[in-house]
Parts: sequence; C-alpha cells; structure tokens
Amino acid sequence: MADLLKTKPLDMLREEAEEAGEHTLKRALGPVNLITLGIGAIIGAGIFVLTGAAAAQYAGPAIVLSFIVAGVGCVFAGLCYSEFASLIPIAGSAYTYGYATLGELFAWIIGWDLILEYAFGAATVASGWSGYVVSFLQDFGVHIPPQLIATPGTALVLYHSRWERLATILPTLQKHGVDPGSLPHVTAVFNIVAFLAIAAVTTILVIGIKESADFNSAIVIVKVAIVLVFIGIAARYVLAHPAIATANWHPFIPPNGGDFGKYGWSGIARAAGVIFFAYIGFDAVSTAAQEAKNPQKDMPIGILGSLVICTVLYILVSGLLTGVVSYTTLNVPDPVAVGIDATGVRWGSILVKLGAIAGLGSVMLVMLLGQSRVFFSMSRDGLLPQWAGAVHPRFRTPYISSITVGIFVAFFAALIPIGILGELVSIGTLLAFVIVCAGVWVLRVRRPELPRPFKTPLVPLVPILGIVVSGLMMVSLPGDTWLRLLVWLVIGMVIYFSYGARHSRVQAAGKAASNRATAD
Ligand code: ALA
Repeated sequence: MADLLKTKPLDMLREEAEEAGEHTLKRALGPVNLITLGIGAIIGAGIFVLTGAAAAQYAGPAIVLSFIVAGVGCVFAGLCYSEFASLIPIAGSAYTYGYATLGELFAWIIGWDLILEYAFGAATVASGWSGYVVSFLQDFGVHIPPQLIATPGTALVLYHSRWERLATILPTLQKHGVDPGSLPHVTAVFNIVAFLAIAAVTTILVIGIKESADFNSAIVIVKVAIVLVFIGIAARYVLAHPAIATANWHPFIPPNGGDFGKYGWSGIARAAGVIFFAYIGFDAVSTAAQEAKNPQKDMPIGILGSLVICTVLYILVSGLLTGVVSYTTLNVPDPVAVGIDATGVRWGSILVKLGAIAGLGSVMLVMLLGQSRVFFSMSRDGLLPQWAGAVHPRFRTPYISSITVGIFVAFFAALIPIGILGELVSIGTLLAFVIVCAGVWVLRVRRPELPRPFKTPLVPLVPILGIVVSGLMMVSLPGDTWLRLLVWLVIGMVIYFSYGARHSRVQAAGKAASNRATAD
C-alpha cells in the first residue's frame, strides 16, 4: 500500500521540466499564446450549445446566476492550478500535481479523470459542432443524409425543408397543430459530421504544436469577435425593447415544482453543474507547460487571464440571451443563433453559426492536445505503455497517442448524445478540481519551503472554497452521471492494478534505492 501512495519527488519533476532534445516537446509558446490557448479551449459548446438547454430545462433567466456560481468556483480552482503550474511546469497538469503531493494512486485517478475530461470533452464539442454545421448547411439548402447527422436512435423529422430533431421541434409542431406522424421521418444511426471533425483536428495535432498554436490564435480572434457582435446586437435590442426584455426576464427564478433541479434554487445549482462545461479549458493551459517559453511566469497569466475574460463574456451573453427570447424556446442545438434571429438582424444568425463552427474547432484542438499530453506524461512514468509517449522525430509531437485517442474520440462523438457526454465531462473535471485544490493545501503544509513563483492567496480558505463550490456542483448533477463516473473510475482501477502499478518508474526507483540500502 505504501508503494501505491508513493509520491514522485519534486526534484525529479523539475529535472524533467528542464530536459531538452529531440525526444522532448518544443518550447514555442509565450503569454499571449497561452491566453489564446485558454480562450480557445474555453469558449465553445458550453456557451454556444449547452446554455440553451440548461436555461430552458433547469434555471430559466437565472442561468446568469448559474454562470456566476460556476465562474466563482473556477476562479478558486484556477488560483490553485496556477500555483501548481508555476511550481511544477510539466506537461501532465493535475495528474503531475497529484503525483507530487498525494501519491501515485491519486495521480492515477486524476490522470484517468483527465482522460475522461479531455476525450469526452472533445467528443461533446464535436457533437455540438455538428449541430451548427448541419443547421448552417441547411440554411443554404445543402442536406447531408439525415441518418448521418445525429447519434444513433435520434428521431428526425423533415419540417419546412429542414431535418430537425423531433424532441426539439415537438413544441413548435404542437403549437401549430402539426401531427409529427404526418411528416417524413428517419432515425439517425451515426453522426458522421462529428466523426470527421475529430479526424481533421487529430491530423492538425500530429503535424505540430507551433502550427496548432497559430491556427488556434486565428480562430480565437474570430470567436471572440462573434461573441462581442452578439453582445452588441442583443444589448441594443434589449435597450430598444425594454418591455420585451422585462417580460422575458420575469420570473427571474421560475418556481420549482417539487422536482430537484427543475427551476428554483436547485435548478440554478444543477444548471451551474451543466454549464460548468463552458468554463472547462483554462486548466488545459497547464497541460502545455512544457511547451511554454517561460512557464513559471506565464502559466498563471494564461490560466487566470483566459478564465476572467471568459467569465465576463458568459455573464453578458447568458443575461442578454434570456432577455431577447423567452428561455422556454432555447432548448435547440443553436440557441445563440436563435437569440440573434429574434433581434431581426438577418445576417447575425449566419455570422453566429460561422463563428461557432470556427470557434468550436479550436476547443476540440486544445482538448485533444491536453489529452495527448496527459497520456505522454503517464506513459513516461510507466503507468501507461511506452508507445503512448513516443515523440515523432520530425514533428516532435506525441503522435501515436494523438492518433489512438483521436480514433476513440471520433467514435464517442459519433455515437453518444451530447447531454450525456457533457454532464460526464463536467463531473469528471469537477472531481479533478477538488483534488487539485486539496493538493495545493497539502503541499503548503508538507513542503512550505518550496519556491513558489505564484502563490494561491489565502490558503487554506481559497482551496477550501474551491472544494466546496465544486463539490456542490457535483452533488447537483443527476444520479446517472454519478454512476457513469463510477464505472469509468472502476475501469481505470482495473487498468492501474493490471498494468500501471507493475510498471511504475517511481515505484521501481524506490525499490532500487531500498535494495541498495539493504546491500550496503
Ligand atoms: N469550455 C469548452 C466548451 O464549452 C469545453 O466547449
């Protein structure tokens, strides 16, 4: 048991961070690259897709409060991530921090949890991306075979020359007295659009990090511009039509009818757990620590800078969106486009769709980048097979892990519904946040003397608040999501005890040292 809780010595980690050469990653990223990397990962399917369903089903206009709660929880966690990322600037992110502080078993749990976050996160975004792409193409009369535009079992109907999800369009059909059975309909079998998106992003990642960072920066500019355009148009509309906005915002917290999570305060908490997904990504900045030119200084700037910018944008977008249209109409694959349509600005919806299509691309990129970096670190420690950490001699990227992960993620995206994917990612990431916050506190107590280029303020208060807020969001998520997390962790344990625990380099080094001591 002592071996399972063995920590990876900090000096060993710091040496790894200093390594250079052809088997290491290229140090190409400055502070601006890191902030854009963060924003690239953060603004995505959460705000462009999941916000609509969360407002419609759980929180109503009070979705703004959900964004504030989730944002505050993320700032606490972000401060803890920053301390670690500047202290241990190495690719593995929370996995590495756990290894240094809480021991190998916890490190494995976090690493396995991060695989869940990034792999399923990329799949969630690919699924959201496909919704916008299909909608955009249909605007121009281009139809992909409907069987190939959604996950298996999704019922689709042809209404006004567009293939729509039955579950989404049903209220509209009922309002207009249309019998869904009278419309042409099919059942989807595979989401080919989401599948191809992951295939394309994986190819870019194999080619190289600097190229990926440039591609990402270009997309981030487009994405932020589109969000600002939405804010501008929606704000003008709300100011010009205060009566409509006031009616839409009323009641601000729709009353809870007795079901936990359906409106009322519990609805705000559940919506916070769901739209927490929208904030995920700032932590992915820390997975690029080994590619940063000056990680000690720049990691905190990248993590906190991107987080704060996105929090402000989200509060504005969600507040204005629920003012422009009634929250009851937002349970659609493209809610932001629906919002802008309602303002009467005809070019707005096309622009928002284009922005979402480009913007979600960069999220998939950073998620898959983070994923392959976690694999890389775990395989270097012997917890995963060596091939997972192999670096391409010319591109200097962990190409085998990128390709392996890409294949799995492409299938997840094509086969699993977005709601299930998103909630699973949220709960998994919240668990990682809880462990990181605890880790900062533990390390302050155990190794107070370590040089910390960035210090989390008010320890232990900030880590405790991070744990409490993240824990509350976890508790508010549905029981099924907890069950899925548990299954995932059990699979992880089986792999760890059948492979990782037997090949661990840290354990091997510990045993070698104690054998030497016995021989002496
Ligand atoms: N925060 C990212 C998104 O919303 C994962 O897509």
